[in-house]
Amino acid sequence: MLVAMRQLLDEAAKGGYGVGAFNVNNMEQIQAIMEAARETCSPVIVQASRGARSYAQDRYLYHLMLAAAELYPDLPTVLHQDHGNSYETCKSAIDMGFTSVMMDGSLMPDGKTPSTFEYNVDVTQKVVAAAHAKGVTVEGEIGVLGGIEDGHGAGGTGLEHVTDPEQAAKFVELTGVDALAIAIGTSHGAYKFSHKPDGAVLKMDRLIEIHNRLPKVHLVMHGSSSVPKELQDIINQYGGKLRPTWGVPVEEIQLGIRNGVRKVNVDTDNRLAMTGAIRKVLFETPEKFDPRDYLKPAREAMKQVVAQRMTQFGQAGHAADYQPIPLAVVAARYAAQ
Ligand code: 13P
Repeated sequence: MLVAMRQLLDEAAKGGYGVGAFNVNNMEQIQAIMEAARETCSPVIVQASRGARSYAQDRYLYHLMLAAAELYPDLPTVLHQDHGNSYETCKSAIDMGFTSVMMDGSLMPDGKTPSTFEYNVDVTQKVVAAAHAKGVTVEGEIGVLGGIEDGHGAGGTGLEHVTDPEQAAKFVELTGVDALAIAIGTSHGAYKFSHKPDGAVLKMDRLIEIHNRLPKVHLVMHGSSSVPKELQDIINQYGGKLRPTWGVPVEEIQLGIRNGVRKVNVDTDNRLAMTGAIRKVLFETPEKFDPRDYLKPAREAMKQVVAQRMTQFGQAGHAADYQPIPLAVVAARYAAQ
């Protein structure tokens, strides 16, 4: 069943675990996530960026997700809009049937120019009103991610706009968001850090400060791929050209989860896994040309990464803990608040 993300995150907070939010663009990626969730008995967050929605087309994406919900009725499943850049983007996701939206008002609609606090509050309030009326969850963002490698980010190292705890508190109070993405030095894509990150570049101390200031707020870590060396090596071994790079170590994410992080965004690790598997097949068996010959191993490689993250984030084993609440009931609860 497709459920509101708020319910999953409330349950995760009760259980003290995190939930991976994995990006999709096509059928194989949705299948990989759902199979990993079945294997590990995990609640699921599938997320689609604006780019994914235009690549796959909304109707294909939505019906693939309906198929997933039908095939895996026992897994509470969220369909989330990743990095909505405007009210219109979020509204179209809500109208289509997404059960959660991110309004990233930390940036202007171009997805790279940092906005003002007032703009962010204003646009996020509008999205919250439209979303909550339908029982749909809203994630907001305060502070700005670095990098621009993979859309959405202000460039730089990500240390220029680290989230201020007082501003975060004010933002949550003014907007009523259900979850809050914060900036602690991460960025999207493979090239996050030029060495294993330490406290100078990955501000876990800031995350803990924000959690202490807002202990009840569900925090979201973006740019949380670990970019494992094994996955980089497979790509490079079979003709790829990745420069040496470091992501966010899983133990830092686990520290975050012990300090209020409930949603962990992962895309790049799955891209690396799929691309490595495809390169391997094409390199080792150049005579093959049936897409299933390389898409099947690619799907399997992504499934393994997702299952591993689900276990590491602690969501494994929690799919059957609770009954999904229908969105209309969630909407009525917001209205009564
Ligand atoms: P990665 O590029 O680290 O996987 O981050 C994905 C993300 O944060 C999507 O919003």
